Amino acid sequence: MGLSVRHLLGIEHLSPSDITSILDLADTYVDLNRQANKHSDVLAGLTQINMFFENSTRTQASFELAGMRLGADVMNLALGASSIKKGETLVDTALTLNAMNPDLLVVRHPHSGAVELLSEKVKCAVLNAGDGRHEHPTQALLDALTIRRAKGRLHRLNVAICGDIAHSRVARSNIFLLNKMESRIRLIAPKTLLPSGIDQFGVEVFDDMNEGLKDVDVVMMLRLQRERMDGAFIPSEREYYHRWGLDAKKLANAKPDAIVMHPGPMNRGVEIDGDIADDVTRSVIQEQVEMGVAVRMAAMHLLADNIREHKQKELMA
Ligand code: NCD
Repeated sequence: MGLSVRHLLGIEHLSPSDITSILDLADTYVDLNRQANKHSDVLAGLTQINMFFENSTRTQASFELAGMRLGADVMNLALGASSIKKGETLVDTALTLNAMNPDLLVVRHPHSGAVELLSEKVKCAVLNAGDGRHEHPTQALLDALTIRRAKGRLHRLNVAICGDIAHSRVARSNIFLLNKMESRIRLIAPKTLLPSGIDQFGVEVFDDMNEGLKDVDVVMMLRLQRERMDGAFIPSEREYYHRWGLDAKKLANAKPDAIVMHPGPMNRGVEIDGDIADDVTRSVIQEQVEMGVAVRMAAMHLLADNIREHKQKELMA
């Protein structure tokens, strides 16, 4: 089934059936990606531009590979923070690119809302690859695919999201998604790392890891986002690890088959013990990376179907 949206700006705008369509198609791309010949021509003839105004390794590589495997012409623009300062506004950059007739624009930007603003100025489909603290929809989708493949479902699971929630677009997108798919969400964090208005999120809140992790099916750890902190949010990294870092002792509170997730990049010994991260009987961190490519292929495939349908209608009119 097609998507109800023209752009992938956030999970907030997706319906449960949009989410299921992306995950179902992504499952087929996981199979393709495990073959020797990973090539398809679903995006042949289309131009994909990746615009990253903020550093990224895995997300950019993942989008690039996804586009290449589907046969798109892929161009990377690594803009970094410096080009924002150069004076050209985001809107001017968008208009310049728009004039080059891309079909898919993948954008990461340090400011919340910047990607949506850009989507209003261009004619192509825009995918949000992370905007400030706002949303990171493909991360939540790849997390959902990882969970669904490990647990067989997305509904009625107990999912703990732990750590630096206040600064995390990953947490926000996951909260939207897991709520839409009817899982139960627990947030575990020091009070200083909880966003304001948390009571409207439909979640349970804990500040004690042992209590919050009791009988959960999924433990999702978050990176301490020091680059987004402008003051002292935690006592010290040592103290943080002691109270909120995931180690074997705290994990023992979760269900025996609970999976451990982390979007990367990890601060080992700060939010997660290195041995837990590497324990393939518990950690699905590498699977998350694999699912990332498949989910991005699926999302771009479905948006491209919308583009083609739209172009067809334009021609007929
Ligand atoms: C996340 C991001 O950039 O929001 N990482 C990622 O996409 N691989 C999480 C993070 O930076 O901590």
